[in-house]
Amino acid sequence: MKDASKNDSSKKNAGYKAAEYVEDGMVLGLGTGSTTHYFIEKVGMRIKEEGINVFGIPTSFQSLLIAKEWNIPITTLEEHDIDLSVDGADEVDGEFNLIKGGGAAHTKEKIVDYAAKKFFVIVDESKVVDSLGDFPVPVEVLPDASRVVIKTLEDMGANCEIRMAQRKDGPVITDNGNFVIDAKFSEIDSPSHLEIDLNSIPGVVENGIFSQMVDKVIIGTEEGTKEL
Ligand code: A5P
Repeated sequence: MKDASKNDSSKKNAGYKAAEYVEDGMVLGLGTGSTTHYFIEKVGMRIKEEGINVFGIPTSFQSLLIAKEWNIPITTLEEHDIDLSVDGADEVDGEFNLIKGGGAAHTKEKIVDYAAKKFFVIVDESKVVDSLGDFPVPVEVLPDASRVVIKTLEDMGANCEIRMAQRKDGPVITDNGNFVIDAKFSEIDSPSHLEIDLNSIPGVVENGIFSQMVDKVIIGTEEGTKEL
């Protein structure tokens, strides 16, 4: 059993380290999750203590609220390009393919992270894997399409569950008003092909495989960080 506080200090080390790469004048993609929480917090501290000027583009209501708490000015993709996006992940393999979406925010995360000039991933050591697939692939779907999408995913070999909410009856509803299907494949041979195949199913909004270039992976440990 993992010690949650150790895990948390690892996440904090990764998030704080990533904030050291933020430069005055940058537009930042603000990822979602418990690790990115620390990145946003540290960027907020640097604004307060060093007076750096940055803008943030949030990937979820969660990251919007944390950014507001830290007085980080917010902008949108309509108005600015992104210099650096920093985001967490549920799994990272040796080729920097990712599974994301444990917090159901992968659609906006993918838009922001893929649009960024630089994309850094921050994780604790438990997220680093030889090959993707222990974590089910989150698939955001239009609610009306969920039954037929599940059928197609099952034909592709996945075991599927509609993600259920906690402290709300029924399914998780994403920030975009959709459902999430967690699709567990026994193995994922080619993340880039699966990413494309999943998005070609009618009714799928976006899936949680990220196979596009990651510039840096910062792995938080209890003692500090390692960078890949
Ligand atoms: C949000 O939907 C996810 O993509 C998160 O970025 C991912 O689940 C990592 O979250 P933690 O940093 O909380 O583990």
